[in-house]
Amino acid sequence: MQDLAAARALVQAAGGRPGALCVLTGAGMSAESGIPTFRDALTGLWARFDPAELASEEGFRAQPQRVWDWYAERREGVRRAEPNAGHHALAGYARLWPGTLVLVTQNVDDLHQRAGNADAIRLHGDILADRWLQPCPRRPGCRPVDASPGRPPHCGECDNLVRPGVVWFGEELPAPALAAARRASENCAVMLVVGTSGAVWPAAGLVSRARQRGAQVLIVNPAPSEIDDQAHRVLRGTAARTLPLLLDSPRAGA
Ligand code: OAD
Repeated sequence: MQDLAAARALVQAAGGRPGALCVLTGAGMSAESGIPTFRDALTGLWARFDPAELASEEGFRAQPQRVWDWYAERREGVRRAEPNAGHHALAGYARLWPGTLVLVTQNVDDLHQRAGNADAIRLHGDILADRWLQPCPRRPGCRPVDASPGRPPHCGECDNLVRPGVVWFGEELPAPALAAARRASENCAVMLVVGTSGAVWPAAGLVSRARQRGAQVLIVNPAPSEIDDQAHRVLRGTAARTLPLLLDSPRAGA
């Protein structure tokens, strides 16, 4: 409880200073909303596949229908899910202290946005968005044809395929999002890291970047992560239980 009180004092003191609180979230943020982590989503029918077979351009080109079906199932799970108390606590803090919080997420779901953090920086894209697999070779452009049995959506004329708007293994992160996340980590006074294993780069590097620039690093995770050694304080708890205790202020309901 001592750690919680000290961590709470830090985030409350940041309130009102532009960009003072940078928050990095990972899959654990949405776990209590019922969205499985990437690896946990490889269960049941999908357990026999390697992640790279389902989340890479190579895998999609080899088996477009299989990959499309896997994402269709995950999209359905995201649409059914609701933001949890952790998402709401972050949105409440942002409302209370406009401009203080910069939220950076590795998650491809839209739960931060639905909770009210419309400006969250999305490092790994948006699972609900569609985009073309390759730039259109024609002018004025590709036109989608609905999925036919055994076929994901594609261009009726040039066969270009529609793919989910996420970052796959081997792909670059969207440059504007990464640049904005780096700026936020360099400028913050407190870096709050929630529900990430810290194993995926370059996102994990944001934490050491913040620490090197003098930020206090707080981690919220029920289990050890690969970046615990970067933290000034580790709060062993889940996102939905811990974030309201950390972020809610007596003024929040005012
Ligand atoms: P991981 O699946 O690697 O790690 C999830 C983390 O959440 C672990 O450290 C858990 O201990 C923690 N966790 C579990 N339940 C939690 C809860 N209720 N509250 C808080 N934390 C909890 O997820 P990420 O670190 O987000 O990449 O991994 C990042 C990327 O790896 C994902 O964006 C995805 C995946 O491969 C791409 O799709 C490119």
